Amino acid sequence: MICTEDGVVHLRLATKVSLTLIGVLALGIMGSVQALLVARKTSLALEGMIADNVPSVRAAMELEIALLEQRGLASSYILDDGSARWLAELQAKKASFAEWQRRAEETAHTEEEHAYLNDLAEIYVEYDRKRDEVISLFERGQTGRATAALLDEVNYLHHRAFAACEGFIAANEKYIDERSERARRELQRASVGVGILVALTLGCGTVLLLLFYRGVWRPLRKMADDVRTFSGIETDDAAPVTPRDELRAVRFYLRSLMSDVTESHTNLERSRLQLQSSERLASLGRLAASIGHEIRNPLTSIEMRLFSLRQGLEGNPELEDDVRVVSEEIKHLEKVIRNFLEFSRPPDLNLKTHDVGVLLDKTLELCGHWLADKGVEVVRRADPGLPPVRADAEQIKQVFLNLLRNAAEAMEQGGTVVVAASPAAARAGGEMVVVRVQDTGPGIAPAVRDRILEPFFSTKPEGTGLGLCVAARIMAQHGGRLELEPDGGRGASFAVWIPAAKDV
Ligand SMILES: Nc1ncnc2c1ncn2[C@@H]1O[C@H](COP(=O)(O)OP(=O)(O)OP(=O)(O)O)[C@@H](O)[C@H]1O
Ligand SMILES: [Mg+2]
Repeated sequence: MICTEDGVVHLRLATKVSLTLIGVLALGIMGSVQALLVARKTSLALEGMIADNVPSVRAAMELEIALLEQRGLASSYILDDGSARWLAELQAKKASFAEWQRRAEETAHTEEEHAYLNDLAEIYVEYDRKRDEVISLFERGQTGRATAALLDEVNYLHHRAFAACEGFIAANEKYIDERSERARRELQRASVGVGILVALTLGCGTVLLLLFYRGVWRPLRKMADDVRTFSGIETDDAAPVTPRDELRAVRFYLRSLMSDVTESHTNLERSRLQLQSSERLASLGRLAASIGHEIRNPLTSIEMRLFSLRQGLEGNPELEDDVRVVSEEIKHLEKVIRNFLEFSRPPDLNLKTHDVGVLLDKTLELCGHWLADKGVEVVRRADPGLPPVRADAEQIKQVFLNLLRNAAEAMEQGGTVVVAASPAAARAGGEMVVVRVQDTGPGIAPAVRDRILEPFFSTKPEGTGLGLCVAARIMAQHGGRLELEPDGGRGASFAVWIPAAKDV
């Protein structure tokens, strides 16, 4: 998760991206919670203000109205010549005033409001008393004094009570204004908090984008361009990869690189095996050459002595037969030595341009009779338009001969050998000609398939086990190869790959 380099702590890209993502999420959640809190606070403040202020405002207004309504009732009583209904109405208004006074006391919040209400209560008591005096003067028949007192003192006290009422209303409004201002400031603070969280979220989001761009997107594009250049594949849309298809491009070019690597690995392994076998062959060849030379001369003199011995033995069939067997064994030994020497001293190639069909024909001319004697029918096929090959004719004929001889030896009761030449594409590009030699023999047992190209590996009593090995080496010298084809169910099939002339 964390790597240190020269004592400096470096966070890996994934850690950075994860941490920033967690930050963005945390800030987003905090912002949402804060916004929810603000909304809740706003609604609570609104509800509180309505529940708290509406009754007090109403009480203040009703108090003022009740006071105003009382004002004319005493005058109406006097002017209406003492009609009792005015007094009854006055009593009702007094009761209503007292009720609103009580409610105002209950809903008042500030000391100022209470002070105004106290003032009002004191003035109202005085006002009420004075009004009762006026009514009693009138009832006692002193109408002039009553009217004068009504206009003067009662009126004055009414004004004062009304002023106290107004003061109470003003104090109430002041309280409401202060409360609204407080709520507004609180909401403003909360909104600033939400704003800061939103800004931080945006900032973290930008950092995340930047990290993603610099740590993932840009390297990915570069990687896509690099793998394309490295893979050497030029597609129709060879323009630099677009952001949308960069992952697809990386996958495409990596796949092609991987298949190249796999092929190179297979080639390398094959070359390694060839090298190993060449080294073994070289040392065996040197040994074989020296032994071959040492044995060849004594063998020649033994053969000459046998020849003169055979002449002296005429008429003695038993000894003659012994000499014949010894002579055959010597021939076999000579074949072994000849193979050894051929194997140990690979000739320099005499490369010329040839038609593979012609080379096949010449080989079949050489061994046609021998194959026919063994009951082997040869089917020769060559695709039209075969490219010419650059090869040493003698060596290629030797390869074909070794394969045909093996096929004939495998089909003891006779059979068919199909020899077919066709053009083919080389693995590394370019053209080749492939000649397949397929027989109808018993095929090659799976247990020995891997070993048949080894020098001296043979399942035949008289075999040296060098035929295929020499053929494979000749093909390698030509830049081609000899391959045993997968078991197709019947017989053995070998493929000889010869590079076309223009590709050598
Ligand atoms: N067409 C074939 N069908 C079946 N087995 C084969 C065929 N060709 C080769 N082999 C097997 O591969 C072995 C090696 O063949 P190779 O030609 O190298 O040596 P050889 O034929 O045994 O000896 P030499 O070629 O020296 O006479 C053979 O002994 C045989 O077992
Ligand atoms: Mg052979």
